[in-house]
Amino acid sequence: MRPRPDAEFDVTLTDEQLAHYREQGYLSIDRITSDEEVEWLREVYDHLFSNRVGEEEGAYFDLGGRRAHGGKEVLPQVLGPERVFPELRETSHFRNARRLSAALMELPLDDVNGGGHMILKPAGYGGATPWHQDEAYWSPAMLHAGLSVWLPLDPATLDSGCLHFIPKSHLSEDVLEHRHIDDDPLVHGLVTDHVDASQAVACPIDAGGATFHHCRTLHYAAPNTTNRERRAYITVFSAQPTKREAPAARPWIDAEAEALAKLESLARPQS
Ligand code: NI
Repeated sequence: MRPRPDAEFDVTLTDEQLAHYREQGYLSIDRITSDEEVEWLREVYDHLFSNRVGEEEGAYFDLGGRRAHGGKEVLPQVLGPERVFPELRETSHFRNARRLSAALMELPLDDVNGGGHMILKPAGYGGATPWHQDEAYWSPAMLHAGLSVWLPLDPATLDSGCLHFIPKSHLSEDVLEHRHIDDDPLVHGLVTDHVDASQAVACPIDAGGATFHHCRTLHYAAPNTTNRERRAYITVFSAQPTKREAPAARPWIDAEAEALAKLESLARPQS
């Protein structure tokens, strides 16, 4: 792989953009990094997916299918790519994403940290990412202040799987009830039925643009029906979470942990 391009590319937000995010719970910007860096990120991305990096440790799997299924993967995902390529944290993209996230959350930069995951929608059969709030995946013991920065490495259109948001859904009092895709706790992907999709706003953007959404903002991405893949790199930034007085009820998280434990005990050789 060639070395990371080191030209700096700085992005700032206008007062209107900051206000839009705070009122609506999402924001779309045309550019978060250079074309040159997008090119390099694509090489890193393709390396991770074509080698299924991290599969043994559970850091590569199909978000839209059962754990370890042997069929076509509709939403392959790589968790924590920065562990494999620490340079990802040095990119203009990552530095902009972190700095803009701190500004959007009105937090000092030093208090904001994050890391990423990558979701691929393969050409022609990449599955939908159904309506959900990101916080539904997170620890129910904590109160979170966080947001996701979504960077497509291919044009994200209505047909390839750009993000759709429900404006103001970030103001929801707590995390809505979720369930696993196909009602199968061995599918990691979550969905909520508590959505009025007629309110959705689609945010098509080009490669190198970005959308931001609060951890409670309801969002969705359609299946990829185009003949090119839709690569996306998502970085999540947050302040240190604080402990809730009592853990929130998130039965879908318990169901998944139980199903995984059962799967592992079945895989273990019997003595
Ligand atoms: Ni999400």
